[in-house]
Formats: sequence, C-alpha cells, structure tokens
Amino acid sequence: MIVILEPDADVAHVAAALQGLGLWTRPMAGGSPAMLEVEAHSASVAEAVVLAVPGVAQVRSRVSPHPRVDVMSRTFTLPIAGGASLVLGRDTVLVAGPCAVESAESIAQAAALVAQAGGRLLRGGAFKPRTSPYSYAGSGIQALKWLAEAARQHGLGVVTEAMSELHVDAVAEVADVIQVGSRNMQNFALLAAVGRKAKPVLLKRGRGASVEEWLMAGEHLLAHGAAWVLFCERGVAGLVGETRNTLDLAAVALLRHAYELPVAVDPSHGTGRRDLVVPMAKAGAAAGASVVLVEVHPEPARAKSDGPQALLPPQLKELGEHFGLPPVVPANTALPPYTSRYPEFYKKSVAERRRAVIANLGLSHDAQAYLRHGRLDFAIADKMSENVISTFALPLALGLNFRINGRDYLVPMVVEEPSVVAAASNAARMVRAAGGFRGDATASIMTAQVQFDHVADPPAAAEMMRQRRDVVVAAANAAIPRMVARGGGCMDMDARVLDGPGGLVVLHLYVDVGDAMGANVVDTVAEHVAPLVQSWVGGKVGLRILSNLPLRRLVHVECDVAADMLGGADLADGIARASNFAEVDPFRAATHNKGILNGIDAVAVALGQDWRAVEAGAHAYAGLGSDYRPLATWTRTATGLRGVMELPLAIGTVGGSTQAHPGVRTAMEIVKVESARELSVVMAAVGLASNLAALRALAGEGIQHGHMRLHARKSDVFTAQAEHKEIR
Ligand code: MEV
Repeated sequence: MIVILEPDADVAHVAAALQGLGLWTRPMAGGSPAMLEVEAHSASVAEAVVLAVPGVAQVRSRVSPHPRVDVMSRTFTLPIAGGASLVLGRDTVLVAGPCAVESAESIAQAAALVAQAGGRLLRGGAFKPRTSPYSYAGSGIQALKWLAEAARQHGLGVVTEAMSELHVDAVAEVADVIQVGSRNMQNFALLAAVGRKAKPVLLKRGRGASVEEWLMAGEHLLAHGAAWVLFCERGVAGLVGETRNTLDLAAVALLRHAYELPVAVDPSHGTGRRDLVVPMAKAGAAAGASVVLVEVHPEPARAKSDGPQALLPPQLKELGEHFGLPPVVPANTALPPYTSRYPEFYKKSVAERRRAVIANLGLSHDAQAYLRHGRLDFAIADKMSENVISTFALPLALGLNFRINGRDYLVPMVVEEPSVVAAASNAARMVRAAGGFRGDATASIMTAQVQFDHVADPPAAAEMMRQRRDVVVAAANAAIPRMVARGGGCMDMDARVLDGPGGLVVLHLYVDVGDAMGANVVDTVAEHVAPLVQSWVGGKVGLRILSNLPLRRLVHVECDVAADMLGGADLADGIARASNFAEVDPFRAATHNKGILNGIDAVAVALGQDWRAVEAGAHAYAGLGSDYRPLATWTRTATGLRGVMELPLAIGTVGGSTQAHPGVRTAMEIVKVESARELSVVMAAVGLASNLAALRALAGEGIQHGHMRLHARKSDVFTAQAEHKEIR
C-alpha cells in the first residue's frame, strides 16, 4: 500500500499516526506530494481508517511501479510571456518552431509564423543530438538567448531540449517546458538533473522504448522533483521504409484514454516527411494528444537540420486553423481600455462583435477559441452530468453599458428569452448617464442547518448549544481546515426551537465561504458537527444541509436615473406607481421579481452559477415578511427616480462549473471580477436594470409594443435589426 500525503502534511507526524495503527512505513524518495510506502509486515488496516488520519490525501492499495505518474495532476497551468497562461493537458496547444535555433533572425521569423498560426509555445534546439558527428549540432548557449528573445517578442512560451547535465541550468533558465529527447529517455542522470529543476518536462518516447519504460522515465523525473511530465510520442522504429519512424498512435490513445495521462504528439519526427505531418498531427489529436508539436522553418530548403520534415508557413497556418486556434497577440501590444460602451454593437455581425471584444479585452487564447467555436466537449459534458447523450447550446450575449461603483463591466448573459439582454443594456445606458450603479455585498456567509428531532427539552437544548458556541464553532472549523486557512470558516452559530415531532431544535452554523458558492463546504460542516451536538442534546439527527435563504449573504444595489433619460416625468411617475403596485400586491410582486431575475439568472447561467439556488433565495427573501414583496423598489426624486434592491445571492467565482466549463471560464474572463462579492454586485445591478427596463416599457407604451416586440425574432430573424433600433 502507498499512502499519499496532503501537500502541507508533516511526514513524520503522519508516519507516527500510521504506526499507531500498526502500519510501518518508509518515505519514498522524491518531492511533492510526499508518499509513504507501507511495509509488508504491517497490520491489515481498512483504507477508510488510513484515509481518516490527518494529512493523508490518498491511499493506493495496488502498488504500481510508477506511483508518482499515477497520481500526477492531469493538467498543469503554465504561465507564459505577458501574463498569459495555458492549461497543458486540457487546452489544445500547438508547439512549433525549427529543428534548430540557427540565428537570431531566423528564429524571430519562425516565432512570428508560430504566433500567427495560433501556436503558444516556440520550440527549437540549441543543442542537437545528431547521428553523425559531422552534422550541425546547434548553436549552443547563444541560441538559447535568441530563442528566449524571439518568444518574448511574440508572446510565446519556450520548449527546448536539455541534452546533457552540463546544460540543464542554462536550458532551465529560458525554457518554460524542458524537453528530454528521445535518445535521452533513459539517461537517468540527465532525468535526475532535469527533474531537480522542478519545471514541467516534455518527455519524448525512446525510439525503441515500450510504454512501460516511457512511464518509468516519467517516474524518474517526478521522483527528482519535476513539476509535471508531458509524455510526447514521436515515433518508434517501424516497418514503413518510407517514413523516418512509425508514429505510434495506439500509444497516444493508450496514455490518454486508458491511463488518462497528458500526451503530446510529434508528427514531424514521427514521419520525417513534410507531406505527412499535417494529416498525422490531426490523427494524433484525434487519438488523444492535447499538445501537437511540429517543426516549421521560414525557408525549409535552407534549414541546417531536418529541412525535409519542416512545415512550410502556409501548412502551419492550416494546422492552426484546423484546431481553431486564433493568432497570438504579442504581449507588448497595447490594448484599449476596458469599456462596456460599444455603440451600435447590435448592428454588427456576430463575428464582428466577437472580434471587437477580443481586440478590446485581451482574452486568453482559450477564451478566444471558445468564442469562435462555442463547443462543450462531450468528455467534459459527460463529467458534468449523468446519462449524457449530447450538449445543448444557448446564445452567449453581452450586457452593455454597465457602470458599477465607478467601473465598467461587460456582462456575459445566457438566456433564451429575446429582449432581456437588450432591455438590461438599454436601462444600464440610462443609469450610466446618472453615474451608474452603486452596490455592496456582505461577506459570503452561508447558513448550514442541522435538524434535531425528538429532543426531550428543546429550549434547554437550544440554550446548551448556544452556551457551547465556541466548541461548536471549533468543531465546525475542524471539518474545513482549508477554508479556515484561506481566511473563511465558521464564524458563528444559533439554535432555534421549532414545532416538530416531540421537540424540534435546529442548529444554524454561519460559515464564511469566501469566493465559493459554498454548498459543499457548509454541508460538510453540518455533517461533521451533528454527532457532537447530538451527544449533548440527544434526540434524532435529521437533515444536515445548507439553507437556500442565506440571510447573512446579502447584496445591496441602488441607482438614480434622470426622468429625461426615461422619456419624461410621466414615465418616471408611472414607474414609481408600478413599484408601489408591487409593494401592495403579491400577485404583481411575483411578476416584478420575475423581471429582476430575468437579468440575474442570465448572468448566473453564463457564469456557471447554481441559478436554482439564486431563485430560491430571492423568492424566499421576498416572502420573509407577512406578504410576498418586491425585491426592488423605485421612488421619485427631484430629477427622476431612485431604485433600491436587496436580496441574498449565493454565487461563487471558484469551484463548481467555474473551472470545468470553457464557456464559463470565458465569461469569467469577460466580466473581470476579483471576488464573489464583486460578482454578486454586478449580478444585482443587472437585475435592477432589467426591472427598470420592464417597468419603463409597462408604464409607457405597453409590453407588447415595446419590450416584448423582440420576441418577433423567434419567428423572423430578419426583422431583428429594425426592432433593436427601437429599443435603444
Ligand atoms: C417578462 O419576462 C418580465 C416582465 O413580465 C416583468 C414585469 O412585468 O415587471 C416584463
């Protein structure tokens, strides 16, 4: 058995705890995560018991010869030039460049080609292993400098090979990813030296190496501290006389689909022939390689090495287009300031709007690619839900004109109802003229509930819980050490006596979940604390779950809007009267709040939030008093109207689908918020804008004439532009 430790665990401490269970362990060589191998003469202990030891992250009962490869993260976030980053193992990444870095000029030309084709990493050898001692063997240390400079200028990262232990330091200085070449796959001294640099490594498979030997070479790198290993198939000795090697696509598929490991494919060495590189690159990607590594040369006929397998510039471009890769914007290109004002955006084509946003926002390569294809991979979809048979698309649109707390926001919105985005953008334009929205949110405090039924003396039990507040809070925090380390955790508690069978007491735990939506965190807390409290108060433990009415997680927004902007004093009066109508009539308040949630939900869907939780919280909050009430109200001011809104919003900027769904990640890049609190203010502002737009239409010419007319687009897309004009 192998015990894998948490990153910050104290190895000696964990070993001592395991010894207490009868498990004798010895530490395995290597860096993070630390691992303990359980010796054969140890007691037999259930996996669940070992997992319960503090500091233990995982247990592997089947001992593999490459445990570090087995537990290595399947993705690696690689920061590259200009503050950008790639997620290797997940993003489709094109790595390209010449076989050798021949001169400063030629590598600069190659870098420009790579960036234009959408490549993210520039490859090129400074030290070349050559079969003949008389062949060009690279330009050495000075070539590393040329390579680094060319990559920097074009916003690319660097992959280059360390051929000997002597050059590892120099290579590690410029390489974002260190390459270990095919010939050196089993040069264990080199693997150790490269591993010690703690960088990600691209490990080429040896020409005659089995998959197991290849994986063991990866294990060597990781055992010596390599940050991550990307296995690169580059062709093995084969029977096809006309190709340099045989690109083993079955091995690519095996690593990707059976081992679920990150794989790169190198069809240039795999075939040795320019005419076969593009088709084999496509085949490699289809087999499961997320990284495609190819050679390209500005003038292959003049290349000092491997000219016949170097792609011509148009071929590289074709490959980039095939993978839907947008050109890389050099890091030093100045971007215009972030604005939410895009006049006449509606008049442009979808492609023109996309280009304008991409140019303005400096979006990541992934986000740009997502905007182009709008696809959710089946593999991701399959992990997000169950019984998946396909994916389902909706329009991703932008709410424009939003200015909130003095900052512009472009707000991604996903909604199937026409007019919601146009209406919110139009209202935001009117509010903007009066200075924009103002808002604030409380800390992200969620409520966990623990139900105790059949409690003998409910008031006494509730009092006992309150008196032991500090113990309850400490027990809750023991369940979520990472959240506590991030500055969150259980802050307070309360106990409520309710009507229930034989005495119902409900414990509330108030947990600051930081930037997470927090459902998992609070459910964990509730489950952890329940048995302890039950041991004091007796009864039967019932539900242990969050409340979707998080009264300590409120957001407040308000705004002013001039009567002139609205279309005159009569309209302003009409909106104030409409607001009053909702205040005195729950039938109207329900529709009024639906109009608010039109905007909030659209942002929630675009940003991967649990919109059912948002809806539940909003309606429960509206119904808290004796009557169901409007969440937003509008009153007349000297110049126009003031709108005020408050509601609970349980949303997050980390966890959930925020990381998994490429569309959500793209939307997060567009909205550019720093925290969940900031996002909740943005969402509430969109809700208030939607409400204003709806009331203005209702108080004016009527919903059918104005607001709802965009519904006509459902049946006739060609009428849309004319109608858009009217709503702006
Ligand atoms: C329609 O989706 C929303 C409205 O009914 C909201 C309202 O009546 O305030 C227009």
